[in-house]
Amino acid sequence: MTANLASATQKLDRLGYLDLEVDPELDLVAEINRLKKEKNAIILAHYYQESEIQDVADFIGDSLGLSQKAAATDADIIVFAGVHFMAETAKMLSPHKKVLLPDLKAGCSLADSCPPHLFKKFKEKYPDHIVVSYINCTAELKTLTDICCTSTNAVAIIESIPKDQPIIFAPDKNLGAYLIKKTGRDMVLWNGACMVHEIFSHERIVKLKNRHPNAKFIAHPECEAHILDMADFIGSTTGLLKYTINDSAQEYIVATESGILHQMQKASPHKTFIPAPPNNNCACNDCPHMKRNTMEKLYLCMEHEMPEIILPQWVIEQGVKSIDRMMEISEKAGLGLK
Ligand code: 13P
Ligand code: SF4
Repeated sequence: MTANLASATQKLDRLGYLDLEVDPELDLVAEINRLKKEKNAIILAHYYQESEIQDVADFIGDSLGLSQKAAATDADIIVFAGVHFMAETAKMLSPHKKVLLPDLKAGCSLADSCPPHLFKKFKEKYPDHIVVSYINCTAELKTLTDICCTSTNAVAIIESIPKDQPIIFAPDKNLGAYLIKKTGRDMVLWNGACMVHEIFSHERIVKLKNRHPNAKFIAHPECEAHILDMADFIGSTTGLLKYTINDSAQEYIVATESGILHQMQKASPHKTFIPAPPNNNCACNDCPHMKRNTMEKLYLCMEHEMPEIILPQWVIEQGVKSIDRMMEISEKAGLGLK
């Protein structure tokens, strides 16, 4: 945990916020909807959230869609049902709005794998390179970044950069390796990864495919190369969801966080979705950070308007440039919200 996060958590503790309990009789859906209206608040939820949080959200999406929505909303309060870097991005895009995150400790193993002070030293070794960072990184890392990208627009972002311009890609080595293969660009990669997408078992997926010969295998580009090599389709969460809607198969083995299965099942109730098995004995692929948010925490954060995301002004001013650049390229490429 960074020093800022630790002191924000201590503050919540001192205020007694962390000890608050919710009456189990309370109709949380009704209360959350009431608070949305009363406070002119919007709930943005990532596809990896619990299904009941997705169902109460005003907008559910991938990292690009959520950023675009956060930049465009006229709500006074943005409640971000996602993880810390996503709420930071929303704050950078809407600095005058109050941005709330139901659990401040909802972090990200990928963002944590690239501490800004170490990245700064790494970057100094490549003075001629520009930095493209996956949006799954801290606000401070964005201040060291020239252009951000998400899994939806990563190929378009890399292809928008002149071919003779060398690139550092951070922090996800798996997405980076996928992009090198896809675009033919030779990039320097930071050695980071997502704990959820790194644990899929090649052997168990092969066995599962044998038991379901008609199932398509679809995967997120944060997965390792040997998993992606098996995939019938690779895409962001939105890309995977759209694929299952438009494709004619009836069964899918899905290699990403299991929260996305809720929208897949809702959009195609007659199709079967099977989470790809990880390398441990657990049957699920839950992100422990995403799943820190609960309906109770969502309600409490809206009621008390905390925890709030606060960023130093220099971080907002410096970091937002890399997000703005990403938004411009995405817009030109016709990507994102439809
Ligand atoms: P997307 O939803 O943008 O594909 O990102 C996946 C992810 O890991 C978010 O933490
Ligand atoms: Fe981070 Fe991976 Fe969780 Fe996404 S799924 S928030 S990349 S740890």
